Amino acid sequence: MSSHLTDKNIALDLVRVTEAGALAAARFFGRGDKNGADGAAVNAMAQAFASLNIKGTVVIGEGEKDKAPMFYHGQEVGTGSGVAFDIAIDPVEGTNAVAFGRQNALAVVGISPRGTMFNPGKSFYCKKICAGAEAAQVLDIDAPIEDTLQKVALALGKDIRDVNVFVLDKPRHNELIERIRLAGARVHLHSDGDVAGSLMAVDPRSPIDLMVGTGGTPEGIISACAIKGSGGQMLTKLDPQSEGEYKAIIDQGIDVNMVRSIDDLITSDECYFAATGISEGEILRGVQYEGLYAVTSSLTTRGRTGTIRYIEAWHNRAKLARMSGLDI
Ligand code: FBP
Repeated sequence: MSSHLTDKNIALDLVRVTEAGALAAARFFGRGDKNGADGAAVNAMAQAFASLNIKGTVVIGEGEKDKAPMFYHGQEVGTGSGVAFDIAIDPVEGTNAVAFGRQNALAVVGISPRGTMFNPGKSFYCKKICAGAEAAQVLDIDAPIEDTLQKVALALGKDIRDVNVFVLDKPRHNELIERIRLAGARVHLHSDGDVAGSLMAVDPRSPIDLMVGTGGTPEGIISACAIKGSGGQMLTKLDPQSEGEYKAIIDQGIDVNMVRSIDDLITSDECYFAATGISEGEILRGVQYEGLYAVTSSLTTRGRTGTIRYIEAWHNRAKLARMSGLDI
């Protein structure tokens, strides 16, 4: 008898949930309708979850920060039988990217056994620094970025001028960006999508060596699910962006100053992650329409084994629309 919760790789079922979300959201690509995209993805993913044999409880539902349609904290998903899991879900990671026709939007879900996922309460933002296996050991979220860049370059055997850094293009990062440039490294600016940024930082096929900056706390926990098992690392520290956010975190008794690694955010190796591309990206292709078919590109990861699977699916649009009611 196995000592593991289940020998089944649930990520392979989970990918059907992210495929449904991506197919639904992709219809809103470039249409300027953030909530339309989010709402369609939430509905499609809720429907897909209904046939998944797990007892899931949503810990991270996202959406709250933007008052978007969302899965809510405590919501039960799955058939209610099978293993009990905590769920972190972002039906559209990069809602602006979908609405305004930009890159790197994903439908994402991470799951880990009940009670093993950090509940960030009312924390919306955290600072993150993330790199793949070769540079994982040199990360220090409190160190000056110049020192980190030197250590990363050394760990990767690169000249600092060849180090590629993913940063969200936000006014709060202006100083950070300037310092990275002065240190001599290459800054890749993205308007949205630091889950994609974290995936790029740990993926040896991507030119990105480091992802750094402040982004969504939910996105950080979802990324931790994805990275766990890869040998890569992400360090995080809550970074409230308003007095109200700071107070809400303190009131909930959450330590604002603690540095949390992926092992603090997800305390079990029995975690799974799935992502499907909505718009074109460096990690995954967006939904493509090929005659009768809608083509999705997805990836799954499994914490225990560290296996990454890339899955391309050709969905018969008419049949799927009839069976699911989805507008694809
Ligand atoms: P959404 O899922 O809300 O669309 O998040 C997109 C995103 O760019 C995340 O990747 C990132 O963590 C967060 O927003 C940053 O928040 P903000 O845009 O408020 O700075």
